[in-house]
Amino acid sequence: MSVADVVTSDARGATPAVTVDAVSKVFNAGTANQVDALVDVALDVDAGEFVSLIGPSGCGKSTLLRLIANLIEPSAGTIHVNGKTAARARLDQEYGMAFQQAGLFDWRTVTKNVELPLELKGWDKQRRAARSREMLELVKLDDFANHRPWQLSGGMQQRVAIARALAAHPPLLLMDEPFGALDEMTREHMQAELARICNETGTSVVFVTHSIPEAVYLSDRVVVMSPRPGRITDVIDVDLGRDRDDDTREEDGFYKKITEVREALRRGGHETTSGEPLGVDDR
Ligand SMILES: Nc1ncnc2c1ncn2[C@@H]1O[C@H](COP(=O)(O)OP(=O)(O)OP(=O)(O)O)[C@@H](O)[C@H]1O
Ligand SMILES: [Mg+2]
Repeated sequence: MSVADVVTSDARGATPAVTVDAVSKVFNAGTANQVDALVDVALDVDAGEFVSLIGPSGCGKSTLLRLIANLIEPSAGTIHVNGKTAARARLDQEYGMAFQQAGLFDWRTVTKNVELPLELKGWDKQRRAARSREMLELVKLDDFANHRPWQLSGGMQQRVAIARALAAHPPLLLMDEPFGALDEMTREHMQAELARICNETGTSVVFVTHSIPEAVYLSDRVVVMSPRPGRITDVIDVDLGRDRDDDTREEDGFYKKITEVREALRRGGHETTSGEPLGVDDR
C-alpha cells in the first residue's frame, strides 16, 4: 500500500467525497453560441453517500459530473474530491467512471478490461489477476472472464464496466446514465447489484439518471436540477434505510418519494421547495 493509499483511506469518513462550491460553467463564452450550462452550483457528497442528479435533458447533469471528474474545468468556483483539488484527484485516480455505453475494449478479454485501471496504477500481474477475479465475482461474471466484450449481452457489458470502475477500489464512483440502455428487468437487477456493491465497499457515488424510481431506489439524496441556466432547485432526502431490495419498490415510502421528486421536477425551478416563487434574480 502506498503512502497515498494510506492518506486516502484515513481521510475516508472524515472528508467529504465531493465538495462543489459556487461552480458555474459557461461554454463558448462571449460568442453567439454561449451556453450557461451551470450557474452557482453548490453540492457536498459525504463519504459513503449515494447522490443522484436528475433533471430534464440539457440541464447540465453530465457537465457537473465531468467537472467533478476534472474532464473539464469550471468557469467559476471550486471542486474538491476527497479533500483534494479535482485535478489532483484525477491524477491520483480517486474515482472510477461508468457511462451509458459500457466503453469496453473489444480486443481485450473481460478480465483484461477490468485490469486496465490497475495496469495504469502499476499493479503487478498477480495482484491485478486477483483483484479482477474478485470484481468479476462481485458482478457475477466470473464465468465470462475470458470472453470478449462483444460476446456478452448489453447488461453483462455494463456489469463489466462497473467492475472496471470499481476495480481499484476508488473511494468515489461517477456514473452517467449507466443503465439507460438496459431493459427494465435487467435495469432493476443492476440497481440492486450496485446498491449492494456500494454498501459492501463503502463507495461514494454521484449518479446521473432520467429515471425517478431509479434515483429514489439508489440514493440517500436526490438532487433535482433545472435547465437554462442549469442549477440545483431541490435536494430530497430518501430516508428509506440502506437495506433496499425488491420489496422496497412496493413500499408506500418509496411511492411517496417518487411523488416528491416528480413534483420537484414539475416545479421546474419556478418555485422553491417551500412553494415560494423564486425572485427574478434567482433564475
Ligand atoms: N462541450 C460543450 N460545448 C458546448 N456546449 C456544451 C458542451 N457540453 C455541454 N454543453 C451544453 O451544456 C448544456 C448542458 O449539457 P449536459 O450534457 O450537461 O446536459 P445533461 O443534463 O447531461 O443532458 P442529458 O440529460 O440530455 O444528457 C447543454 O445546453 C449543452 O448544449
Ligand atoms: Mg447527460
